[in-house]
Amino acid sequence: MTDSAALRRSAFPADFRWGVSTSSFQIEGAGREDGRGESIWDRFCSEPGRIRDGSNGLVACDHYHLWPQDLDMARALGVNAYRFSIAWPRILPNGRGPVNEAGLAFYDRLVDGMLERGLDPWATLYHWDLPQALQDRGGWTSRDTVAAFLEYTDVVTRRLGDRVKHWITHNEPWCSCMMSYWEGVHAPGGRSLPDALQACHHVLLSHGQAIPLIRRNSAGADVGITLSLHPIAPASSRDEDAAAVRRHDGLRNRWFLDPLFGRGYPQDTLALLGAAAPRVEPGDLDAIATATDFLGVNYYFPEVVRDDPAGGPMGTALVEREGVERTAFGWEVSPQGLVELLTRIQRDYAPAVIQLTENGSTFEDVLTADGRVHDAQRLSYLQRHLAALKQAIDAGVPVKGYFAWSLLDNFEWAEGYLRRFGLAYVDYATQRRILKDSGLWYGRFLNE
Ligand code: NOJ
Repeated sequence: MTDSAALRRSAFPADFRWGVSTSSFQIEGAGREDGRGESIWDRFCSEPGRIRDGSNGLVACDHYHLWPQDLDMARALGVNAYRFSIAWPRILPNGRGPVNEAGLAFYDRLVDGMLERGLDPWATLYHWDLPQALQDRGGWTSRDTVAAFLEYTDVVTRRLGDRVKHWITHNEPWCSCMMSYWEGVHAPGGRSLPDALQACHHVLLSHGQAIPLIRRNSAGADVGITLSLHPIAPASSRDEDAAAVRRHDGLRNRWFLDPLFGRGYPQDTLALLGAAAPRVEPGDLDAIATATDFLGVNYYFPEVVRDDPAGGPMGTALVEREGVERTAFGWEVSPQGLVELLTRIQRDYAPAVIQLTENGSTFEDVLTADGRVHDAQRLSYLQRHLAALKQAIDAGVPVKGYFAWSLLDNFEWAEGYLRRFGLAYVDYATQRRILKDSGLWYGRFLNE
């Protein structure tokens, strides 16, 4: 067992990617500037009761204007990679059709700014800010959105593909489909399981179809997709709970991993979904299984489930383990869960490369009189997850990079600004950034 506080950067491979992660809607602001169109998150935020603190993304961290200092901070931390996302409504304000040059010019400047600072740009094409104009025509439930995504991808990768050599097609399809079209908690707030499954299918299809396009426009680039994955444990040693784990895993994890790795949708899950299953056209599954260069994994917490015949399509219910450490979100803190998850992915799917594209935590941060944020819990979370990562690498899992979520506190979706995940604290009244103790430690760790 590694002593996590004593962990050294030199314990990791010399060519390991060390990064921080962000996303456009969560940090950029400038919601109405330079021709940006409306996104589904702008619309969602304008609907009363959707966002816990009633906020929106119009200003956020004002990264659209403050990006040079944010990139300076990333460089000072010592990271060598920077993961960001591109706002589709800045590029194609109506989703398709006329290209907004000012939007492309912004990402041109941003990418050049990264390269000038020695930061390798890792661009996510879709981190949830769909143009509202496309949602008005069905959003991801419509197959036409796949064609729109390819049009958008072509425009972006033709412009940035000479300098960006790491592309992530989609971030967390579970969230952009299940939470958005079924659970009703993310934009656009849909509440239909069949819609969500159809949306998922289109998202996965758009990922697969985009790969050859990206490779054509960005010579030598690495392309992948990022999934939110969870290790899943049974609530008890009962056989019924073990079976519940399998069913829950079917929708939560295998629903995405199986088709991406060429196995089609899991048969056991399809059987439980019955008529809610998505319409799949000939050739779709082959496209979804197009080979990638890496699998992006976002890890936050494990889930514990029990058998519950009344518990949704999988007949399961989530259980809160007693007496465990939790973040302010209530998410269980489990570095061991990361080891379990990574070794499981490796055992069952054996991707050639895994990138840990997000990992992080939210706590009640306080800016104290000494001008500091003493976020001891986040610091400990970070150290212990890095130690767990090292353990997984030593066990043979090919993880080649780690991206902390997030560089900055930011707009945490339905929670608004109530949840802080940053290595840097953002004082929203002044837009001042203050590295927290966790950020200061990450910087020392990277610069040792
Ligand atoms: C995953 C998402 O990609 C990101 O947008 C979000 O802020 C973090 N999880 C924290 O919930």
